[in-house]
Amino acid sequence: MVRHFLRDDDLTPDEQTAVLDLADEYKADRLAAKPLAGPKSIAVIFEKNSTRTRLSFEVGIAQLGGNPVIIDGRSMQLGREETIEDTSRILSGYVDAVVWRTFAQKRIDAMAAVSRVPVINALTDEFHPCQVLADLQTIRRVHGKLAGLTVTYLGDGANNMSHSMLLGGVTAGMHVRIAAPELFQPLPWVLDDARKRAVETGGSIQVIEDPREAVDGSDVLVTDTWTSMGQENDGRDRTRPFRPYQLNADLVAATGVKTTVLHCLPAHRGQEITDEVLDGPDSAVWDEAENRLHAQKALLVWLLEQSR
Ligand code: CP
Ligand code: NVA
Repeated sequence: MVRHFLRDDDLTPDEQTAVLDLADEYKADRLAAKPLAGPKSIAVIFEKNSTRTRLSFEVGIAQLGGNPVIIDGRSMQLGREETIEDTSRILSGYVDAVVWRTFAQKRIDAMAAVSRVPVINALTDEFHPCQVLADLQTIRRVHGKLAGLTVTYLGDGANNMSHSMLLGGVTAGMHVRIAAPELFQPLPWVLDDARKRAVETGGSIQVIEDPREAVDGSDVLVTDTWTSMGQENDGRDRTRPFRPYQLNADLVAATGVKTTVLHCLPAHRGQEITDEVLDGPDSAVWDEAENRLHAQKALLVWLLEQSR
């Protein structure tokens, strides 16, 4: 059976642990084998901008002995009239896996529905599961565990990072809090799915409007841009409602505990996060960015192994 990674809960809790364990092996440089030698070709397609995702996939695939085929989706026939399904059938004849950054989740669902090779979500409007795998690897390395920790995400609760932190966090057995203004709270169906997964793992979810109450006792604080790619002209005020949620020294102190700060980057310094926090002693953001490389190598190798 072909396995895809379209959203965080596509991995069971045990599978997520297996991928994170493999990611740590790659980080420690303990695996010399080149499982993509041959080479296997992996299409990595972008319909939105990218620095980290593009570079980490390209470098990671090459390190595994594979052939990364990086494509600007806007220059493909996909950008004119060719359907997603027809594109997917064509890709399955050429490559061994497809990594895609696109807009609506239903687009990547359509790609996966007819794909004969694994499809990996490199960010959609709804989810960013590769990022959260790297985040979990980072948190586990700092705290030595995931289950039972409290992570609070601050800012746009309706965006891809918030949703992926909900699904990925509860899969790891974490207590996930979302601190967001009333009009920017997570989509109800994502909350429902996260709640169901939390019952299996002993994790939990909470949506809390008051940022100080939300961060109290949090082992990890996460934030992200207030304006995601594609939302630049959506006519909503994406500054004022978010100001109380800025990740600054005052909110870090309000945790009352030693906390770890994450941001998927790119950061908008002085908006969702201050320089003092991003560059400060609690920040793990540079290691988090590096871990994209290790987590994605592990994910690719694991998915291809499962799909044989
Ligand atoms: N965090 C992340 O996905 O970064 P890029 O948009 O640069 O790929
Ligand atoms: N929420 C952000 C994440 C960028 C990596 C966006 O979608 O633009």
